Amino acid sequence: MKLFSGSSNKPLVQKIAQKLQVRLSPIEIFVFPDGERRVQIQEPVIEEDCVVVQSTNPPVDQNYMELFFIVDALKRSGARSVTAVVPYMGYQRQDHVFRDGEAVSLDVVIKTLEANGVDKFIAFDFHSIKIPELFYVPVVHLSALPLFAEKIKRMIENVEGAVLVSPDMGGIRRIKMLSEMLNNMAYACVVKNRDLATGQVSSDEIRGEVSGKTAYIVDDMISSGKTIDAASNLLSNHGAQKIYVFATHAIFSKDAAEVLQNSLAEDIFVTDTVYIPKEKHFAKLEIISVADMIVDTLNENT
Ligand code: R5P
Repeated sequence: MKLFSGSSNKPLVQKIAQKLQVRLSPIEIFVFPDGERRVQIQEPVIEEDCVVVQSTNPPVDQNYMELFFIVDALKRSGARSVTAVVPYMGYQRQDHVFRDGEAVSLDVVIKTLEANGVDKFIAFDFHSIKIPELFYVPVVHLSALPLFAEKIKRMIENVEGAVLVSPDMGGIRRIKMLSEMLNNMAYACVVKNRDLATGQVSSDEIRGEVSGKTAYIVDDMISSGKTIDAASNLLSNHGAQKIYVFATHAIFSKDAAEVLQNSLAEDIFVTDTVYIPKEKHFAKLEIISVADMIVDTLNENT
């Protein structure tokens, strides 16, 4: 197996390489003054099974283009197979037409990857469980939930006093899965409304019992942090004693770090599917690595 990395999450790829005990294969990603990228694979890959790791978090378009170019370079250079490991996949919000006249962005990027010749796709916690159906190539859909379940198990002092919380109705399936992993732990759900035109979030109703309990909010991603902030306020208003947050993808756009640090949550646990630069770290943040899960999957699938 030959392992290549895009530039979006080098620290994670370095961990993967170390654990797999493979050398990271050399690749040049040259950036022209106008921002265009030129990609060159710098060792032979003829008849090799190649793996490229690239998250497509912001700058989303740039990271996608890099991924497309690396896959193209590998295929043109004779790779036998190309597995794309995309720990965080951008454009998942637009996975279908919500309003007349909209593009289905996710379908466009999937088609482009497949047309480029990706043979297999590995990703974490898709926004919806239906997303793998949009692919024609095999998809391994991994989840950070088992890692979160382990952590929550160690944190809980009294199961009766603990509740899992989905910050929106869309996440209820995720919460039910986690609840099963934790011996059918109680769960609740926040009813969140987002104005599609302005992006404004309002969370004003909770379904389930949270009063006097420690709440564990679980979500697939944190972008602006507004969903978590609103859910934490609502939980506190409904009598939750302590609030912890678990989210797979730490996009942390704009002032999310500040919003989260100032929120009512005690700690925010995220994974390293997205690289978090030092300036976006904050005191309440804890990062759990998904490297072992990727390594195990690659060992089983390549
Ligand atoms: C929404 O459906 C997702 O599961 C997340 O809750 C959402 O994308 C988080 O976005 P933000 O942090 O901007 O509220």
